Amino acid sequence: MAKHYELAIIGAGPGGYVAAIRAAQLGFKTVCIDKRETLGGTCLNVGCIPSKALLQSTELLARVQRNGKELGIDCSDLRYSFRQMMDRKKHVVKSLVDGIAGLFKKNQVDFIQGEAEFINPHLLKVKKGEQTEEIEADSIILATGSEPIALPFLPFDERQIVSSTGALSLPQVPERLVVIGGGVIGVELASVYSRLGASVTVVEMLDHICPAMDKTLSKQLLQVLQKQGIQFHLSTKVATAVVQPDEVILTIEGNEELRNLSAQVVLVAVGRRPYSSGLGLEKIGIQPDRRGFVPVDANLRTAHSHIFAIGDLIDGSMLAHRASEEGVAVVEWLKGGQPLINYMAIPNVIYTDPEVAAVGMTEQDAREAGLAVLVGTSFFKGNPRARCSDETEGLVKIVGDQQSGRLVGMHIIGAHASELIAEGMMAMQKRATLKEIGEAPNAHPTLSEAIKEAALHALGRPIHL
Ligand code: FAD
Ligand code: NAI
Repeated sequence: MAKHYELAIIGAGPGGYVAAIRAAQLGFKTVCIDKRETLGGTCLNVGCIPSKALLQSTELLARVQRNGKELGIDCSDLRYSFRQMMDRKKHVVKSLVDGIAGLFKKNQVDFIQGEAEFINPHLLKVKKGEQTEEIEADSIILATGSEPIALPFLPFDERQIVSSTGALSLPQVPERLVVIGGGVIGVELASVYSRLGASVTVVEMLDHICPAMDKTLSKQLLQVLQKQGIQFHLSTKVATAVVQPDEVILTIEGNEELRNLSAQVVLVAVGRRPYSSGLGLEKIGIQPDRRGFVPVDANLRTAHSHIFAIGDLIDGSMLAHRASEEGVAVVEWLKGGQPLINYMAIPNVIYTDPEVAAVGMTEQDAREAGLAVLVGTSFFKGNPRARCSDETEGLVKIVGDQQSGRLVGMHIIGAHASELIAEGMMAMQKRATLKEIGEAPNAHPTLSEAIKEAALHALGRPIHL
């Protein structure tokens, strides 16, 4: 006989697990199902967390190598242990996934490990090995996430041809790494291995990297990464590949003549696609769109009013915090609340060095939307805190709407941009004006003074220019 729940959530990533905890807090009898053995989905197991753990270790190494002498630190005998970095990464992941298990227990969320499939719109079959159990639920949230896209002529073996998952668990630092795709994963993982001494080449089909980024920042990031030793072939595609036992030979074609690249490891990072295979959506009349996204209405309802979809499975930016916001909103709606998700206030961050962070519209987007824009910039080389920490690379760019005076976008490239963008997020959330940002009393000396200065610049009254 099927076990009954008020809410069943399929997927325990940042969309599903956060929704499950909030639902239990609101009094719903909740079960969360995931086929993975550990909680936390892509983000905690093979995404955000392991990548940031490795980025942190390698950034520290590279910073000391680059600026140590300038800062008065003798690092002539600097060494690293790749194994220790990988062990630490595993430890960070384990502590966080165990933490979610603790939160499930505390909030009385039931967890079933197994693969869920629809039998009918209210009934799920959950398979684990030879065993199956049935779950009946009044409402269901689909939070099954996404998977890496492979190139047809270069299937993943997670040894020589790796996705981000394989790249986060390489047994050793390859001598030569080729990264196909100069997007977010491409530049973050290229940074990790380049800092560890690999010769890294990125092949990007567009004429710029990180396509969603403001063009000024994208250009600057490219220059900085090139200065750090990463090679880029833009407007270039991989035409052929030959996988040999110890080497992969790629032929690339672009503006330059056809040429060969060889590498021990090739990371394919050309995007991710929504993951819904095995769910049996066809049996209940839910038809993903041609890109695989599950269509939803403004309240994230699918074709069935009691089945919702959130996170990477639906159209939009594939970000952990977006998935969590959507998960919470769905359960609040189910409880009769009226939360709004302000998509314009959702920031995105690239954890390179310097970091890049943005919220709202780019200048190009704002102009294309017909706004009369106010643009202000402030460079970290003029910021006293940046001078003290020797982190002077980068700038803050602010985009405002001339008519309303409101902030419509903030773009930062520089140290700690991931933390600084919180001010832009809150300003977007509260619909703040450039005047309010420019007149806010930031502490001195802090990097956040550059945000104030950029807003004043947009208003035509900078102090330090
Ligand atoms: P997921 O986290 O993908 O979770 C879905 C879960 O559903 C999985 O655990 C899967 O096992 C389970 N599942 C699927 N089908 C079934 C089924 N039929 N039955 C049972 N279980 C099922 N985002 C950020 O915001 N910041 C970052 O720094 C960041 N870094 C990233 C780095 C990398 C290398 C990658 C790959 C991604 C990164 N992301 C980052 C993106 C982020 O991981 C995703 O946006 C986020 O995990 C999406 O959450 P989700 O809950 O929608 O799905
Ligand atoms: P992406 O969409 O960011 O970048 C893919 C890149 O590959 C693009 O620049 C695209 O032009 C290029 N490309 C596509 N096909 C190609 C080909 N055949 N040859 C050469 N280049 C090609 O996707 P990515 O980097 O795989 O990441 C997937 C998603 O994961 C991101 O969109 C992001 O939402 C999420 N993510 C978020 C992170 C963060 O928030 N810091 C970190 C890592 C991933």
